[in-house]
Amino acid sequence: MTIADTSVAAVAAAAPTTNSQLIEWVAKIAAKTKPKEIVWCDGSEDEWKRLTDLMVEQGTFIRLNPDKRPNSFLARSKPSDVARVESRTYICSQKEIDAGPTNNWADPTQMRATLAEIFEGCMRGRTMYVIPFSMGPLGGNISKLGIEISDSPYVVVNMKIMTRMGQAALDLITEGTEFVPAVHTVGYPLIDADGVERPDVPWPCNDEKYITHFPETREIWSFGSGYGGNALLGKKCYALRIASVMARAQDWMAEHMLILKLTNPAGKTFVVTAAFPSACGKTNLAMLEPTIPGWKVETVGDDIAWMRPGEDGRLYAINPESGFFGVAPGTSMKTNKNAMLSLEANSIFTNVALTDDGDVWWEGMTDEPPAHLIDWQGNDWTPASDRPSSHPNARFTAPAGQCPIIAPEYEDPRGVPVDIMLFGGRRGTNVPVVNESFSWEHGVFVGAMVSSEQTAAAEGAVGSLRRDPFAMLPFCGYNMADYWGHWLRMGRLLGDKAPRIYQVNWFRKDSAGKFLWPGFGENSRVLAWAVGRVAGELGAKTTPIGNLPLPGEFDVSGLNVTDSQLDELFSVNRDAWLAECDLTEEYFQQFGDRLPPEVAGQLAALRQRLQEA
Ligand code: GTP
Ligand code: SPV
Ligand code: MN
Repeated sequence: MTIADTSVAAVAAAAPTTNSQLIEWVAKIAAKTKPKEIVWCDGSEDEWKRLTDLMVEQGTFIRLNPDKRPNSFLARSKPSDVARVESRTYICSQKEIDAGPTNNWADPTQMRATLAEIFEGCMRGRTMYVIPFSMGPLGGNISKLGIEISDSPYVVVNMKIMTRMGQAALDLITEGTEFVPAVHTVGYPLIDADGVERPDVPWPCNDEKYITHFPETREIWSFGSGYGGNALLGKKCYALRIASVMARAQDWMAEHMLILKLTNPAGKTFVVTAAFPSACGKTNLAMLEPTIPGWKVETVGDDIAWMRPGEDGRLYAINPESGFFGVAPGTSMKTNKNAMLSLEANSIFTNVALTDDGDVWWEGMTDEPPAHLIDWQGNDWTPASDRPSSHPNARFTAPAGQCPIIAPEYEDPRGVPVDIMLFGGRRGTNVPVVNESFSWEHGVFVGAMVSSEQTAAAEGAVGSLRRDPFAMLPFCGYNMADYWGHWLRMGRLLGDKAPRIYQVNWFRKDSAGKFLWPGFGENSRVLAWAVGRVAGELGAKTTPIGNLPLPGEFDVSGLNVTDSQLDELFSVNRDAWLAECDLTEEYFQQFGDRLPPEVAGQLAALRQRLQEA
């Protein structure tokens, strides 16, 4: 059995860096995990070709028909490894209270002992990849560096799409440069401690999973999953959980938000960011094709925003990612043309169906399903099958640069100044299609109050209503109430330059359970209203919950929505909102004295406005 020479001298001799701290760390991880070899990733096309060929040969990847989908691949995960595992995701802060009641906390000393045990020899028989990456444009002052060590070639090629990965990032990590160390293993060694070998499988993983974060030392350790946010550690683990902790300490913001640039018919541009929970429409809104004439949307980001006050006092946002890891089902030329055009080539598909001519298909891609498919589990599928052909959390990984409406500013390390922020979720009832907050402080309360019907993006009961404040429930690396306090502080820092905050809801239903709002491209009408407000061109009707459009000022021309449907979309039911206040009070109680008094004050004020209405 081969085990790589993990002496510092041997690692240094083969390393494309002279950074001694980095070399020592890599040697230490290799000594622990005992891979057969160490490969430093350079992010080149050659490397992509070598690894995709290797995965095709090993059965992890199916090469798609190059005439239909050039340089693209299909992966099928193990059915037990299809989404983020929130119940196995831990924040290991020194004190439990600093993780807060909405996170799984684990004692860092105990977790380190557990990790020491399970990582011992976990890469036996495998290649250990060292993956240097930058979150955000290389060298930008909002950007940050990281190194993921992983035994998964699937992770390497996904990280190439999702981050600025390779030698250029490594070259920035010079001696003493801050970087986040992130260690990942699928937890499926090919040789056991006694030297007994076993064959590899197309999707190696482990039934036991640990997605762990050490906020004080800014480290990530992930064991047992190869899927999405569990394994691509630059994404949720770094860019949200660890970055939220950094951001609090350094007066910036790391948010689960899309970023879009909107141009109105007069040619004036506005930047909108929006926080919606997982699988609630960020990718769709980020790439929106406005249905109202003269408006234009360009995409800056579809999932994560890092925002920092600039010299002019405004808040500047960058997209720390360089690709889209988007929900496939429901994506079509009708619902999201720009996503479809982004994934025409050079893309990876996970858990979608395979067509007979070697292309991909998923529910909602076309009105008529193909007569025959191979489903995401490798079985024959026909329209008569009683199960969907793709997993509901099936995803595409596509380069952001391939999006036809990618904004040029997406590559600008300075970012774009934010005018408007939206908070949304899936709410079948109560929440109007759009509602303007009275102030930043009121907006923070609205963000803190967000509930949403659960989706397939994480394990759990799909459809059940759960609190997902700021769409950050699974992603905040510290006490959620302290995070609200940080938002309040940022508002004070930004003063009158702070973006305006709106609550939106595309998912309100009528009594028959049908969506009242057509959504998708029609959501441009909501953006137009918010922009009209910010520009001071439109009025509003003040209600207890916020400012709503005046009748006639919300553009519904050409829309197939009746007056009574519109009334229902914008209706504010006093009793239902009072009941919501009661539930919110109960929810806030768990935060004890960490709850910012301003947030409690906003709840009391809302209740009073409702009672007086
Ligand atoms: P994550 O990548 O998990 O963070 O999700 P996301 O917020 O980017 O979600 P995405 O845009 O991929 O949308 C998820 C699902 O919501 C898809 O199946 C969409 O078709 C559906 N969806 C998006 N926008 C709308 C809308 O305006 N109305 C309705 N009814 N459905 C929508
Ligand atoms: C989400 O669940 O919000 C995602 C997908 O964006 S994952 O990267 O798997 O977290
Ligand atoms: Mn997301």
